[in-house]
Amino acid sequence: MHTEHNMAHMHKLHGPIDEAMAHINYKLAIISGKGGVGKTSVVVNLASALRQKDMQVGIFDADVHGPSVPKMVGIKTKMRDMLHGSHGIDPVTTDHGLKVMSVALIWPTDMTPIMWRGQYKARVLRQFLSSIKWHELDFLLVDLPPGTGDEPITIMKSIPSLDGLIVVTTPQEISTIVCSKAINAAKELNTPIIGLIENMNSYCCPGCGRQEFFFGKEKGQKLAETFKIPFLGGIPLDGQYSDSADEGVPIVFKHPDSLTSQAMRKIADEVLKRLQPKPKVVVKERTWEEGRDHHKTKRH
Ligand SMILES: Nc1ncnc2c1ncn2[C@@H]1O[C@H](COP(=O)(O)OP(=O)(O)OP(=O)(O)O)[C@@H](O)[C@H]1O
Ligand SMILES: [Mg+2]
Repeated sequence: MHTEHNMAHMHKLHGPIDEAMAHINYKLAIISGKGGVGKTSVVVNLASALRQKDMQVGIFDADVHGPSVPKMVGIKTKMRDMLHGSHGIDPVTTDHGLKVMSVALIWPTDMTPIMWRGQYKARVLRQFLSSIKWHELDFLLVDLPPGTGDEPITIMKSIPSLDGLIVVTTPQEISTIVCSKAINAAKELNTPIIGLIENMNSYCCPGCGRQEFFFGKEKGQKLAETFKIPFLGGIPLDGQYSDSADEGVPIVFKHPDSLTSQAMRKIADEVLKRLQPKPKVVVKERTWEEGRDHHKTKRH
């Protein structure tokens, strides 16, 4: 087990995925114990909140079964528009400057079950990860398939030097062992847990703006304490949140003053506080296209 880990680590240091991700400062994966808790919404809005702080932010949507990031950020690009160059794939840049790559943009839905069968799964994923030209990013947020099964674990293991995991849960889930499964999986991966987010922790009355905590106010906080992980914050249940997702504009951009957007920005601050400081990646010149196509990405 140990040897396997060490070998994987050695591979990680020299692999083509490292090369593709060499200029990303922080790589964070967002996980949950089960599906439907708002993981993708957190990925999209946390990315947006970081983007509002003038950071370069990428999203990798690795949820092969229900890739929903492109829809939530309003991307309508299809595969044929992307594979124009022979060397690598450019992420799509949204109107708000998020760099997005999704399995949905590359693989037609009807091919997904074949591509992801058995032994090919990890190989195809690694090939895909090594082809994406992220260029310079402050953050890459990874949206995973729900749960803590084989697939999300394989994906997380394929990302070299993941900086941390963010666990998303809901108050309903908190009383069960589902969330602890996610936390334990994170511990097994030997990746630091940045913290816990409690989604749908309260309800905001659209009329009067009053915030009700139907499930108790400090449930998420207490759970985080139990597992000795940081609590990053709660997100209210908000109709505008899902409406924005349906329209393809993250709420953080669409309704920046809403309680939900404020909560997301607070969470972004908490995340920033809890990361190990690193010098910014500065790249003078890229060699992606073998000298053919130098992308001049400016750093903020
Ligand atoms: N705080 C919230 N307020 C209102 N609606 C929300 C909130 N969080 C998530 N939703 C809605 O709940 C649904 C599920 O959210 P989302 O797709 O983000 O969850 P998920 O955990 O990624 O699900 P899956 O397991 O299917 O990937 C979406 O329609 C989303 O808009
Ligand atoms: Mg999702």
